[in-house]
Amino acid sequence: MIEIRNLKKSFDDNEVLRGVDITIHDGETVAIIGESGCGKSVLLKHIIGLLQPDSGTVKVDGILIADAKEDVLYALRRRIGFLFQSAALFDSMTVYENIVLGLWEAGERDEVKLRQIATEKLGLVGLGARSLLDFKPSSLSGGMKKRVGLARALAMQPQYMFYDEPTTGLDPVTSDQIDYLILSLTESFSTTSLIITHDLFTVKRIAKRVIYLNKGLIFFDGTPKELEQSTDKTVVQFIERFVK
Ligand SMILES: Nc1ncnc2c1ncn2[C@@H]1O[C@H](COP(=O)(O)OP(=O)(O)OP(=O)(O)O)[C@@H](O)[C@H]1O
Ligand SMILES: [Mg+2]
Repeated sequence: MIEIRNLKKSFDDNEVLRGVDITIHDGETVAIIGESGCGKSVLLKHIIGLLQPDSGTVKVDGILIADAKEDVLYALRRRIGFLFQSAALFDSMTVYENIVLGLWEAGERDEVKLRQIATEKLGLVGLGARSLLDFKPSSLSGGMKKRVGLARALAMQPQYMFYDEPTTGLDPVTSDQIDYLILSLTESFSTTSLIITHDLFTVKRIAKRVIYLNKGLIFFDGTPKELEQSTDKTVVQFIERFVK
């Protein structure tokens, strides 16, 4: 469970978060939307302790992030999987090395076991048919890189998954596939998922709940259907721009 209470964060005179309250229960799938620069990534960084609040609190599974010791934070981050916008694979490493990196860092050295895990995770993300383990990321398409990024996150068997723009930059067919993949993984592993997206299709397909951040505050918190049916001027205008 993630509990964010009256979270405020400024950078110099730029008030980014002005009192954000969000509770995310275990098993929820929540999309976060808002204009570029509204603080979506800043919000995520508070949840994993990469940024500290000016005031307010963030708790994950009861752990107060601001006060958590480095080892507690490290253990918590191991339970959180990330899919970064660019997939953020290491180009100098093979697909296999990328996928098992977190496990290697955590001390796992059994090569047979690691390769077995990597193969299994590639299967989960729909790349099981070809043996890509020894490929370099540079030889993969954008959609394949996202899938490998997802396989890497899954290798840690995360309780939470955070996706930052999972379908940005992909063609519509590949975007659809990634959406369905996220949906099926969320359901099979009961992960609690946060998805930052600019894609209304993604919101409708994946999320049960959508949070719209505007001017440093939660402007809307409801179902995708309620968002679409909203007659609030700010919401309507945002959606009109958003769907383009
Ligand atoms: N470390 C930092 N130092 C100073 N300003 C920052 C820092 N991190 C973020 N900001 C500022 O905070 C604001 C929110 O940034 P953030 O990256 O959260 O936006 P975003 O909603 O994720 O946007 P996008 O959709 O473009 O990714 C921006 O004005 C940004 O310049
Ligand atoms: Mg961002």
